[in-house]
Amino acid sequence: MNSKQIAGEKACEFIQDGMVVGLGTGSTAYYMIQKLGDRVADGLNVTGVVTSKATEELAKERNIPLMDLNEVGEIDLTIDGTDEVDGLFRGIKGGGGALLFEKLVAQASKRSIWVIGEDKVVETLGAFPLPVEVVPFGYKQVERQLEMNGYKPVLRHHEDGSVYLTDSENYILDLHMGAVTNPEELNTWLNNLPGVVENGLFLNYATSIVIGYSNGNVEVRDK
Ligand code: 5RP
Repeated sequence: MNSKQIAGEKACEFIQDGMVVGLGTGSTAYYMIQKLGDRVADGLNVTGVVTSKATEELAKERNIPLMDLNEVGEIDLTIDGTDEVDGLFRGIKGGGGALLFEKLVAQASKRSIWVIGEDKVVETLGAFPLPVEVVPFGYKQVERQLEMNGYKPVLRHHEDGSVYLTDSENYILDLHMGAVTNPEELNTWLNNLPGVVENGLFLNYATSIVIGYSNGNVEVRDK
C-alpha cells in the first residue's frame, strides 16, 4: 500500500452512519472514496457532497448517494487532500484545480480532515506553486497586477498545450514563490484583486490531518 492509500483509507474510518460527507478531489481522496464505496455497499448510510466533476464521476461509479452543496445545510465531515500543510494546519491546495469547490465545501464543514503522504508536511508553505483561479475575461490584467507586485504567474496548461479550465471554466495562474511568508496577508490581497475568483491558500479549514508513511505507518494529528 502506498502512503496515499494508507492515509485515505484510515480517514474513511472517521465517517459514521448518517453523516453528510464532503468528498475531496485528487489521488489521495481517491482511496478514501473507494473505501467509502465499499462501506456503502456494506450498508453504510451517508450522503456525499462532491468537490469536483471528477469526484462526482468516481462517487457515482461507487454508488455513493450524493446531494448538491446547495441542498445540504452543514456538512458533518469533509475528507480532502492537500498539496502542502504546515505546522499550523494551513495549506496550499488546488494542484488538481478544484480549489474553488473545495473551499466552498470546506467552508460548509464542521470538520475537515486532510489526507496526505508524509512528503506534504512542510515548515513553510510555498514550495508548491500557489494556484490562483481567475476569470478568463481580462485575466492578463490580473497577471500584470501580480507581476507588478513581484509575483511570477504562470497560466496553467494541459500537457497537450491547451489552456487548463477549471470546473467553473476559469483559468488558473500558478504563482511560483518558493516561500509564502505571510499567508493571511497574501490570501486577503489576492482575493481582493478584481478577476480573482479564489486562491489555493486554505488557512483555517483543516481540523485534523492523516499522514500516511511509506513504511506502512499512519498518524492522525488534531489541531
Ligand atoms: C485538488 C487538490 C488536491 O486535494 C491536492 O492537489 C492533493 O492532490 P493529491 O492527493 O492527488 O496529491 O487540492 O484541487
